[in-house]
Amino acid sequence: MKTTLSIIKADIGSIGGHIKPSTQLLQRVNDFLKKGVKGIANDFFVSHTGDDIAILFSHTHGVGYEKLHKLAWDAFIAGTATAKEQGLYGAGQDLLKDSFSGNVKGMGPAVAEMEFEERPNEPFVFFAADKTDPGAYNLPLYLMFTDPMYNSGLILSPNMAKGFKFVIMDVSYTEGDKLIELNAPEDLYDIAALLRDNERYVVESVWSRETGEIAAVVSTTRLHNIAGKYTGKDDPVMLVRVQGPFPATGEVLAPFNIGHFVAGFMRGSHVGPLMPVTMNSQVSFFDGPPVVCALGFCVHKAKLTEPADAFDHPYWDYIRTKVSRKATDIREQGFAGAAMLPYSELEYGGIVKKLEKLEPKFKVKKEVKAGKKK
Ligand code: F6R
Ligand code: MG
Ligand code: MG
Repeated sequence: MKTTLSIIKADIGSIGGHIKPSTQLLQRVNDFLKKGVKGIANDFFVSHTGDDIAILFSHTHGVGYEKLHKLAWDAFIAGTATAKEQGLYGAGQDLLKDSFSGNVKGMGPAVAEMEFEERPNEPFVFFAADKTDPGAYNLPLYLMFTDPMYNSGLILSPNMAKGFKFVIMDVSYTEGDKLIELNAPEDLYDIAALLRDNERYVVESVWSRETGEIAAVVSTTRLHNIAGKYTGKDDPVMLVRVQGPFPATGEVLAPFNIGHFVAGFMRGSHVGPLMPVTMNSQVSFFDGPPVVCALGFCVHKAKLTEPADAFDHPYWDYIRTKVSRKATDIREQGFAGAAMLPYSELEYGGIVKKLEKLEPKFKVKKEVKAGKKK
């Protein structure tokens, strides 16, 4: 039986700034889905990470199913009405188009979907991150699918011996989806050469070369490519299938103990370490640090179990302390150098205006030839 998992997520308003959605807003989205889901999806689960609400659907209609996208869009519209009633900050922020037109892709919400033949038991991990962008998953995906230092199954299990295929998107191209396919391990250095640039090249999906099956999928939206201006960071979601021909859950989680530096943080314009957090966490210090949650599920006959909150364990408290230290360290240098993103990635136009105003005030110093009197 073929099952589809779809995550559709959006920031439609939050309390106290860009911290977290209100309970009433989450309730409204949940109630709306409960009423409308019959015949469209077999199951759904709503959670939030920072100010973003993610809906995980399981169903049997394949990716890009119009009725499901419409249901999610309408649930976000209904939620936005509640956000407005409550006076929440940034109500409807990620809903960039006025009316629904077949698919929420390109309309603001982030989407990650995969269809597969269900195994007798089908475990997977749902990831959602806030205050960062899709390139934040580049390094963890590289390590979990190609590096035996993180994925011991690459040397210990016969099921992963052929490695994995990476489909990578050039997200600076806005005319359509510009993709390249590269195979690990033989194209490893080419994969690394692309993935080092988190803002331009983003893993779109990963496939098992043993079975040909899909292993992982990432939302690859660039909000400012859609809106032409700052509308918030493209807080990304991801699905990763685990066990058997795929990495074990623990191998998928392992790279998140690095707390690697990603783009985002305050005003989507800084560099900060990615902190693994529990389900329904908020952000705090300097509108961050960038956070990611991981929920393990099993899906059976397109029905979801309850989630296992994978970063809710004492081990990750230790990592959170380490990441807090990294966040404090980089924040100590404020706007200087590596702490703030390069000009092309700054999410606010204010600095552009500032530099335009300053430009005519620059004077080129006249060169005085040696031996000549002034
Ligand atoms: C980052 C984010 C926040 C806001 C910041 C200013 O993704 O959401 O850091 O950029 O709080 O918000 P505005 O511009 O809405 O006042
Ligand atoms: Mg926001
Ligand atoms: Mg957000």
